[in-house]
Amino acid sequence: MTIHQDFNAIQGAAAFIQQQFKGAVDKAVVLGSGLGAFTDGLEIECEIPYSSIPHFPVSTVEGHIGKIVVGSLDGIRVLVLSGRFHYYEGYSASEVVFPIRVASVLGVKQLYISNAAGGVNTSFKVGDLMIIHDHISFSTINPLLGKNLDELGTRFPDMSEPYSKRLIGKAMTIAARLGIHVHQGVYFGVTGPSYETHAEYRMIQLVGAHAVGMSTTQEVIAAIHCGMEVFAMSVITDIGIREEENQISHEDVLEAAQASAPILTRVFQELILSERN
Ligand code: HPA
Repeated sequence: MTIHQDFNAIQGAAAFIQQQFKGAVDKAVVLGSGLGAFTDGLEIECEIPYSSIPHFPVSTVEGHIGKIVVGSLDGIRVLVLSGRFHYYEGYSASEVVFPIRVASVLGVKQLYISNAAGGVNTSFKVGDLMIIHDHISFSTINPLLGKNLDELGTRFPDMSEPYSKRLIGKAMTIAARLGIHVHQGVYFGVTGPSYETHAEYRMIQLVGAHAVGMSTTQEVIAAIHCGMEVFAMSVITDIGIREEENQISHEDVLEAAQASAPILTRVFQELILSERN
C-alpha cells in the first residue's frame, strides 16, 4: 500500500486544507485543460498550492501549477481543483484520485467535472459541449484496485448511474434557457498521452462512445465510491472520426478548450447556483 491509498494521509491533507478557511464546503469543481476561467467568477477566500498540502502528489512535470481555490459563487462556497493529476504524467491511479478523496473527507457531496475530449460522433464539431451521461473506463486503471478504503465506501460500488440524471436534466434546461447547444453522450477514458489512431477512434465509436479523453473516469469512479453526486461536461476539442488529413496537437486542443470555456463556465455556474441549499 502506498501513502496515497492510506486513509490517514487523506485525512491529513483534508485537515490542512480545512485550516485555511472557515465553515463547510459541499461542492467541488475539477477544471480541465484550458478551462481555468471558472475561478474568475469567484470571490476567492483562499488559494492553496498543491505543493503545500501534506501528502498531495508531487508534480513531476516542469511548470505544473496546481492549486485548490476556495471561493464563493454568489454566496455558495465551492472548492475548485485547478489543475488535475493525469495518469499519463506517471501518477498512480490512487494519486490521480487523491484530491477527490480529500474533497470527500472535507464534506464535498457534489462533484462538477470538466475536460477536453476528442469527438468520435460524426455530428460533433470542434468547440461543442457534451454532457457526459455515461462512460467506458476499461482501457485505464481502476483507482479502487487494492485494499478497499472502508472509511470512504464499499468494496464493489454500483456504477449504474455514475452521472446524476437529476443534474443532467437541470443542465439541459439551463443550457436551453441560455441558448447554448449541448450534446449528451458517452465518454471513453484512455490513458494517453498519444492521441488515438484512426482505427482506435473508429473502435471507440463502434463500442458506443461519443467522445474520448485522458481524464475523468478514474475521478468519477472514486467519487461514486465515496458517495458523491457527479456532473461532468466535455468540450470537444478535435474530431477523431474525420476525412481530413490534419493532425491533432495539444496546442489546438488547448485553444479549442479556451475558446469554449466561457459557455462551459456559464452552464457550470448556473447549475451550481440552482443547487443553493
Ligand atoms: N483523444 C484523447 N484525449 C483527448 C482528445 C482526443 O482526441 N482530445 C482531447 N483530449
